[in-house]
Amino acid sequence: MARYEIIGGTPLRGSVTISGAKNAAVAILPAALLVEGTCRIENVPNISDVRILLSILEGMGVSVEQPEPGVVVLDSSCISCMEPQAELVKKMRASYYLMGALLGRFHKAHVALPGGCNFAVRPIDQHIKGFRGLGAEVEETEDYVTMRPGPNGLKGNRISLDMASVGATVNIMIAATLLPGQTVIENAAKEPHIVDLANFLNTMGAHISGAGTDTVKIYGVEALKGGTYVIIPDQIEAGTYMAATVATGGDVLVKNIIPKHMECIVTKLEEMGAEVINYDDAIRIRCGNRLNHTTVKTHPYPGFPTDMQAQICVCMSLASGVSRLTESVYETRFFGYCTELESMGADIQISGKTAIVTGVDSLYGATVSAKDLRAGAALVIAGLAAKGTTWVKNAHYVERGYEQLIEKLTALGAQIRSVED
Ligand code: EPU
Repeated sequence: MARYEIIGGTPLRGSVTISGAKNAAVAILPAALLVEGTCRIENVPNISDVRILLSILEGMGVSVEQPEPGVVVLDSSCISCMEPQAELVKKMRASYYLMGALLGRFHKAHVALPGGCNFAVRPIDQHIKGFRGLGAEVEETEDYVTMRPGPNGLKGNRISLDMASVGATVNIMIAATLLPGQTVIENAAKEPHIVDLANFLNTMGAHISGAGTDTVKIYGVEALKGGTYVIIPDQIEAGTYMAATVATGGDVLVKNIIPKHMECIVTKLEEMGAEVINYDDAIRIRCGNRLNHTTVKTHPYPGFPTDMQAQICVCMSLASGVSRLTESVYETRFFGYCTELESMGADIQISGKTAIVTGVDSLYGATVSAKDLRAGAALVIAGLAAKGTTWVKNAHYVERGYEQLIEKLTALGAQIRSVED
């Protein structure tokens, strides 16, 4: 267990290079189980969720090599165990993509229910609806999901999701890639990592169209061959460094990003007074003045991401006037960090799905506790902007999703270190 010690008050300055996208990597690595050859995947972030996933795959007999930083070479042609180790599966959320991968490749699956950040009730009924739609017989117990082909076998189908679930869209895409016939996912999620997963699978020989729109079509193919794929940059990591720059009144060049993915976040930071210069694969962001208040409502992509809710809340806490922040994906997400921010001097009133944030002149260092990944990231930003010293306990949550956070922030001038408890 680690905690971070942050001595706040230094504006971030310099440049930071964004790593590969966590939520793309955790979908693409299990999807590589469909490939009967060698997959070389580049720009893989070295974060704990990825390390857990690689251990799960290794435990199943997949050959996993990491010839250089950021590169993972997988060969799943000699899988020896089709039951992912439950203890590891329960440590993260995206391990549920192993269900789709095993069903797609081996037509059966027995996978423990996932764990991960518990900032809300996170059902998987839409995943199950998708698997059943593809013809699977699904048995759910308190701990496991078990699947086998139903009486009519597994084949493509039209599946209409009740909500645009990222996880269900990914799982159905993975499961359907090798099934006969055409699968159509209606009301599909449109997040950048859905497109990245489709691009990965297509590079390996799949036939998927429409990713990034609300209708994804998967034309089943017989087999996938090996290949090389480079994961997209992490939209939320980039947004987190932008929010940290703005909150500390800094000036940072955020490199290795796809500016299109950043539009919604950048628009809000500009409304708050940040100055932004766009380059082809980088954004320079700076802010020398007191921030303005604003209104934000989270939405699925291309809206303002729920995974940036906590970070923008820190900026709002330091803005002049009253901001309104409404959550429309996970209603209980405020509870992961608002009380902690209040202990640092923030003024936040929660009314249903909305946080009313009255800006204060300063935040002050305190001992706070991360309760999930993005809540932890927000507390780090608050600590960087605060007067005095902040201790962020349970830093392992933050390490689920931010590669080399301490090193990257230190290079930007922050005073932050990790201390083992
Ligand atoms: N939902 C259901 N039933 C389902 C699936 C989802 O009711 O079967 C509901 C959820 O409860 C939620 C909404 O639908 O209210 C959206 O959930 P979604 O399935 O889209 O989220 P997810 O796949 O569980 C992914 C990211 C999250 C991110 C959300 C929303 C991964 C591994 N996780 O979760 O990322 O918050 O999409 O964009 O891709 C993070 O990175 O910190 C993180 C939590």
